[in-house]
Amino acid sequence: MIQKGIHLLRHQGRPFDLRVLTQKSPAGQWVSTGIIGRVAAKNKIITNHHSGGVVHHYKPLMLEHMTDTEAENIRRELYVLGVNVAAQLQKSYPHLKEIGLDVAIDNRWNIWILEVNTKPALFPFKKFFKDPSVYQKVKKYANAYGRKLSSKKKAN
Ligand SMILES: Nc1ncnc2c1ncn2[C@@H]1O[C@H](COP(=O)(O)OP(=O)(O)O)[C@@H](O)[C@H]1O
Ligand SMILES: [Mg+2]
Repeated sequence: MIQKGIHLLRHQGRPFDLRVLTQKSPAGQWVSTGIIGRVAAKNKIITNHHSGGVVHHYKPLMLEHMTDTEAENIRRELYVLGVNVAAQLQKSYPHLKEIGLDVAIDNRWNIWILEVNTKPALFPFKKFFKDPSVYQKVKKYANAYGRKLSSKKKAN
């Protein structure tokens, strides 16, 4: 598949993109429960964990390029985007319970969907946020729809 290359916003010279997590709530509503930034490793153009990409908080990354209000407006836009994409995909995939959107922001602040993941990693939302309620909610929703959360290093 050929895609147009997007010029991602940068943090200290390294491109970053965003991961928006959207989950089905126990009450059956789609809710965007978290957003994180992923910064590419030095001299890399992709931000994935296995390519050396590092997770960052959304706000400080965005504040290098815009005001607080602008960053919060884009956050809201991304949360709505996650909900709309999930609702649309659910029409074809009725059992869908969670999605992870890989989103690029370019230097004109256009929002580009790079990829939609149907089994998104939840661990980046754990331990990372100072506010533990973020992961509490992620976990609560995941448990409610029956996703097994891998508890690390279980004894064999
Ligand atoms: N069109 C694009 N323009 C710029 N960067 C891209 C583009 N597509 C992918 N990337 C970068 O590569 C990463 C991995 O691509 P992605 O499509 O999410 O595949 P996967 O996560 O399955 O390896 C993205 O998170 C992003 O950093
Ligand atoms: Mg991806």
